Amino acid sequence: MGLLTTWKSKSKAKQSELKSTPSGAAEGDPAQLETAVSTESLMQHIPDGESAAALRNKGKVSTEPIMTVSSVERMFNVGGQPLHVLKGINMQVLPNQLVMLRGRSGSGKTTLLNMLGGLDQPSKGEIWFDGRPFHQLNDNERTRVRRMEIGFIFQAYALMPLLSAWENVELSLRMAGVPKREWKERVAHCLKLVGLERRMHHRPFELSGGEQQRVAIAKAIAHRPKLLLADEPTAELDSQMSAQIMAVFQTIIATEQVTICMTTHDPTILEVADHVYEMVDGKFI
Ligand SMILES: Nc1ncnc2c1ncn2[C@@H]1O[C@H](COP(=O)(O)OP(=O)(O)O)[C@@H](O)[C@H]1O
Ligand SMILES: [Mg+2]
Repeated sequence: MGLLTTWKSKSKAKQSELKSTPSGAAEGDPAQLETAVSTESLMQHIPDGESAAALRNKGKVSTEPIMTVSSVERMFNVGGQPLHVLKGINMQVLPNQLVMLRGRSGSGKTTLLNMLGGLDQPSKGEIWFDGRPFHQLNDNERTRVRRMEIGFIFQAYALMPLLSAWENVELSLRMAGVPKREWKERVAHCLKLVGLERRMHHRPFELSGGEQQRVAIAKAIAHRPKLLLADEPTAELDSQMSAQIMAVFQTIIATEQVTICMTTHDPTILEVADHVYEMVDGKFI
């Protein structure tokens, strides 16, 4: 059984099954062994059989949408000509969901994700985030909401190269204005959550791509955002590392009460989404 298969059936799989594949793959190669060990420690954090949907059904989580997008359009002015990039987007994201946007390059995924995160505003239409009208807030107001309540993950990790994993995560707490006395515990917790407790003092260049992306996740969730936005977070990773990232996403949805909206075009990854929006030329089909 491959790691991807193991990871997809994790809620049903026995713990021994979860452990066997990564360990087997690691034989004789210290670099892979580290990856395998990290995967095992990751899996231990995943509550057995308690999916995000199960938590919702138990009433622990509100079912009001955290994000509502209505008739959103985005036009750019390119060389004096209007370029119609988003052409009437409607979507809803419920709390504790893993929502994916799929579409070819140039279809408008990043443009939409930027708007969900308050980095950009629609030319027309409405975006409501947790009861607030993003389409009406000014830049400062949106920036404040974004700093406090939203986390971002990018394809290229976006870590500070001279800072250790620990310092990178700490930086995000500083930016969000979290009191310094809370940093130590929170940084340690987040790095453990992504399976990097033994890599805390490494700098990005001393980490694999998958490990760097996991630092980026720890950094993005440290200030306890309600919403995590990830733009092709696995595009530069092989299938095993991508599976680890998705396992981390499932863990943090269940344990940190975060909602995730991500873009991807990897069909294997799409299988674990609660909902997939398929984008073609600025519209959902
Ligand atoms: N700031 C901008 N100015 C002009 N055109 C843009 C801008 N941002 C994106 N676009 C255009 O919008 C289209 C969609 O881009 P993008 O949202 O990045 O797509 P995707 O993420 O699906 O690859 C592309 O044709 C791109 O060139
Ligand atoms: Mg893009």
